This record gives sequence, C-alpha cells and structure tokens, in this order.
Amino acid sequence: MPDTPAPHRRPPAQRQPVSPLQVTLTLLASEDAPVLAELETRNREQLMAGAPARAEDWFTEAGQRTAISHAVADREAGGGLPFTIRLEEDGATRIVGRLNLSTIIRGAFDSASLGYWVDTAVTGRGVATAAVHSAIAVAFGGLGLHRLQAEVKVGNDASVRVLERCGFTEYGLARDYLRLGGDWADCRLFQLVDPHWQPGTEPA
Ligand SMILES: CC(C)(COP(=O)(O)OP(=O)(O)OC[C@H]1O[C@@H](n2cnc3c(N)ncnc32)[C@H](O)[C@@H]1OP(=O)(O)O)[C@@H](O)C(=O)NCCC(=O)NCCS
Repeated sequence: MPDTPAPHRRPPAQRQPVSPLQVTLTLLASEDAPVLAELETRNREQLMAGAPARAEDWFTEAGQRTAISHAVADREAGGGLPFTIRLEEDGATRIVGRLNLSTIIRGAFDSASLGYWVDTAVTGRGVATAAVHSAIAVAFGGLGLHRLQAEVKVGNDASVRVLERCGFTEYGLARDYLRLGGDWADCRLFQLVDPHWQPGTEPA
C-alpha cells in the first residue's frame, strides 16, 4: 500500500525540517509591502483561520503599505512589535510569514499577545516553531515582559502544536472570542509565563 501523505503534509522532499538558525525575525518595514501582498493573496484561504475578514485592499501593495504604517506607529507608541519571518535557504533569505507581539500592556500585567502565520509553501518544517521561540526570547529578554498569551481557533491543531512545543500551557476556552474569517470563533487560550522574570527588568 503506498504511503499517502495526510492532506496537511507536504511531499517529503519539500518538508526538509529547518534549523532554527535558518529562521529569523526582522522588524516589519514599508519595503516588505509587495512581498506581503503576494503572500497574503496566495495564502488568503488558510490565513482566515487566524485573522479577521479582510477588505480587498488588504491584498494589494498599497493596502499592505497602509497596514505597515499603522503597525510601525503602534510600535513607536510601545503597543507592539511587528516582525516578518524570514527563511534562509539555498544561499538566499526570503520573507515566509509574519509574527506580531501586540497589545503590549505594562504595569501589573507586563503581558503581550502573540500572533503568527507562515506561507503554506514552507509549512510543516518547523518555521513557526522557530519563529515563536525567537519571539519568546525578545519578549522575555529585551522587552522584559512577564507573560505572553495566544488564542487559537478550535480545530487549528497545527497552531496548538506550535504553542505546545514552545512551552505554552492552555488555561481556558472562550466562546465566540474572535471574529476570524468573518465569523465569531470559539478559541483555546494559551499562555507562557517567564519563570525568571525579575522586578526592574522592564524598560523604564
Ligand atoms: C499554524 C501555522 C503557523 C504552523 O506553521 P508551521 O511552520 O507549519 O509550523 P511548524 O512546522 O513549526 O509546526 C507545525 C506542527 O503542527 C503539526 N501539524 C501540522 N498540521 C497539523 C494538523 N492538521 N493537525 C495536527 N498537527 C498538525 C506539524 O506536524 C508540526 O508538529 P510537529 O513538529 O510536532 O510535527 C501555519 O499552518 C499557518 O500559518 N496557518 C494559518 C494561520 C494560522 O493559523 N496562524 C495561527 C493563528 S493562532
């Protein structure tokens, strides 16, 4: 009997696991707009599992430029850190996804929300897992946060797997929590707390 791959699996030759060193996070910049418009368009259906419904403009270079300018303004105000996920392969580095640390809240919370997506052309190879590991280092290192949270639509088992591999624990289920792809979705709630956090590690 032939070994038929499951639908989410890519053919073995394309599923070569990545080394974490091949995956980097780079701050989002306006010159990323053309590539992101192409990736958002090609992955439009899959990205509805983790994103709100988008207006048509979102899938254009101009729309991405506008979204990037809002994300950069939010970063400058201390509200978030928007990244592209880059993969170094065959001597070249390219953008293969996005990762956000958003809704950064200081004071008694010192927490942020984590969100991410990866181009289906390279899924199943450990790219998201490596990117989330890097984001944790940024959040608990330079940002001095105590906690990260992530919400996953029920049924998005690949994303749950990424969080579990990165040490997140599940702490609840929220009904009708996020409007993903245009419909209110039940979400599984995850968090990761830095056991080594020290008072005073947060920036002044
Ligand atoms: C979820 C997503 C980020 C995963 O990216 P990725 O680069 O493939 O992730 P990784 O390769 O690091 O890990 C995926 C894990 O899920 C597993 N997996 C993949 N599809 C699966 C499925 N349908 N059911 C269960 N596990 C699955 C993989 O085997 C892997 O686990 P393993 O390393 O233990 O084998 C990507 O599929 C994506 O962008 N999806 C659309 C947007 C989205 O859902 N974003 C997250 C919102 S919370």
